[in-house]
Formats: sequence, C-alpha cells, structure tokens
Amino acid sequence: MSKITVWFIKCAMVYFLLAIVLGLHMATSGTIYPYMPIHAHFNLLGWMSMMIYGVGYHILPRFSGKPLYSEKFAEWQFWLANIGLVGMTLGWMVRSWQGDSRVLMIFSIVEAVSALIFVINMFKTIKAAPAPSAAK
Ligand code: HEM
Ligand code: HEM
Repeated sequence: MSKITVWFIKCAMVYFLLAIVLGLHMATSGTIYPYMPIHAHFNLLGWMSMMIYGVGYHILPRFSGKPLYSEKFAEWQFWLANIGLVGMTLGWMVRSWQGDSRVLMIFSIVEAVSALIFVINMFKTIKAAPAPSAAK
C-alpha cells in the first residue's frame, strides 16, 4: 500500500473513534449543537470519505491498469482534507460560541478543494485506462 493509502486509512479510523465519542456524548448528555455537525462530518468526511480516498488511491489505479495520475496531488489532497475537517470543527465551535461563520466558511472551502483535487486526480487516472478486450 502507498503511504497516502495508509495515512488516509489511519486518519479515517481516528475520526471514526472521535465521532463515536461525540455520538455517545450527545446521546447521553442531550447536548446537540455544535456536536451534531462535528459528529456527522467526522463520520462522513472523516471516517467514510477518508476510507474511500485511501482505498480509492489503492484500487482505482489497479483497476485502470495505469499509475495514479499525480502522487503530488494526492499528498496535497491528504493535508487539505485534514486541515479542512479539523478547521470546520473549529468553525462549528466558533459559530456556537460567537455566532460567527467565517472560520467555518474558510475551512469548508479548503475541504471542498481537497475533494475537487481527488476527483480530478481520479478522472485523469481512469481516463487513461485501456478498454477491456471483448470477452470471447
Ligand atoms: C456509536 C455510534 C454512534 C452514536 C452513539 C451516534 C449518535 C448520534 C446522536 C445522539 C445524534 C444526534 C441525533 C439527534 O438527537 O437528533 C447523531 C446524529 C447523526 N449521526 Fe450519529 N451516532 C453514531 C454513529 C454514526 C455513524 C457511523 C454515522 C455515519 C456514518 C452517523 C451519522 C450521523 C448523522 C449524519 C447525524 C445527523 C443526523 C441529522 O441531521 O438529523 N452516526 N448521532
Ligand atoms: C466540503 C465538504 C462539506 C462541507 C463544507 C459541508 C458543510 C456542511 C454544513 C455547513 C452543514 C450544516 C451544519 C450545521 O451548521 O448545522 C452540513 C450539514 C450536513 N452535511 Fe455536510 N458538508 C460537506 C460534506 C458532506 C458530505 C460528504 C456528506 C455526506 C456524505 C455530508 C452530510 C451532511 C449531513 C447529513 C448534514 C446534516 C447534519 C447536521 O446538521 O449535522 N456533508 N454540511
């Protein structure tokens, strides 16, 4: 496995554990905001998306029979995905304390750019794939 795949899978599992802790906290304390969006996105952008990123980087180049279009894009994408998600968490906390959405907006854009880089890298990788020969 490439280091990007390993890093993403490890991060995915850490976010999953954090999301479960927050879920249990909400379930037992009844305090929802700002924990619900943080819990939801640790699960959906942390656990699920990062697991998909990690597994995607491993599997899609093998399916396409071509190397990943850009390792450098993948590394950038890894850092932006983590900075974006941690920053969004901070953004939800700031919003609940001060009603200010700017931090959330900035890190949401970082997270969206990360997703865009993944999509571009994968489109470029699968575009190069040769068509399978017709089954006889
Ligand atoms: C031990 C595991 C989990 C616990 C204890 C837990 C607990 C909770 C609690 C207490 C809420 C707030 C619900 C409310 O009162 O309205 C919530 C919301 C939510 N959870 Fe979890 N959860 C768990 C796992 C997951 C997983 C694995 C996912 C997704 C992969 C997930 C996705 C969500 C989402 C998207 C919401 C927001 C739902 C909405 O907008 O109404 N949760 N969870
Ligand atoms: C760049 C990526 C993303 C950004 C910037 C983003 C941002 C947001 C924001 C600002 C909210 C409103 C939460 C609030 O303040 O109460 C929200 C809610 C929600 N998002 Fe996302 N999101 C992203 C990706 C995703 C993905 C990939 C999923 C699912 C796979 C998802 C599922 C949800 C759900 C279920 C809710 C409602 C749950 C709640 O209120 O906590 N989001 N999102």
